[in-house]
Amino acid sequence: MTFAIRRAHTSDAAALPAIERSAAALFRNDPSLAWLADAPVTDAGQHLHAIKTESVWVAELAGGALAGFLSAEQIDNQLHIQELSVSQHFQGQGIGRKLLLAAIEHSRERELAGLTLTTFRDLPWNAPFYQRFGFEILSTAETSPRLLAILRQEIDHGLPGERRCAMCLRVP
Ligand SMILES: CC(C)(COP(=O)(O)OP(=O)(O)OC[C@H]1O[C@@H](n2cnc3c(N)ncnc32)[C@H](O)[C@@H]1OP(=O)(O)O)[C@@H](O)C(=O)NCCC(=O)NCCS
Repeated sequence: MTFAIRRAHTSDAAALPAIERSAAALFRNDPSLAWLADAPVTDAGQHLHAIKTESVWVAELAGGALAGFLSAEQIDNQLHIQELSVSQHFQGQGIGRKLLLAAIEHSRERELAGLTLTTFRDLPWNAPFYQRFGFEILSTAETSPRLLAILRQEIDHGLPGERRCAMCLRVP
């Protein structure tokens, strides 16, 4: 399978909700999180805004269809990854890895201090995946007020707080 990673164009926004919905089907592997597969996703209007004002990368297949995206927002001197999704049928083929590497490379070029995100501690395609790139799980004491607020919002949305964590990759 051939694909290329590139910055998102405004015309990509309409395709991104279906990718996030398809990616989320993976949560059906964990019965207690299966509801996430049917939870609302970011809508095309929000993606359009993010493409215009933040950092969004897409994985484009040889025929032009999109298979995945990573959206991130620069906050102070850090890039916060808001969403990384690869369509169900294209998972496990290196697309997620390449999208993440694009965000890390961007952070390096911009001389940012690092990248942050929140994720599940125990799902193999979440924290362990990021740890293989050097991301570290932050203890509560190490977690910034901004990330603590995101974790609290996630609990308000029904996510199990004890399974969530904030992670950081310091860019050398
Ligand atoms: C996380 C996600 C984007 C990874 O994308 P992907 O294209 O499948 O990932 P890759 O093929 O690049 O694989 C990356 C690594 O994740 C592992 N991985 C991917 N899918 C996995 C799965 N279902 N179970 C276990 N490990 C998995 C691979 O083994 C691989 O490890 P390696 O680099 O050591 O070989 C994708 O699984 C996804 O969309 N998940 C649902 C949404 C989600 O959880 N997003 C992250 C939110 S923080």
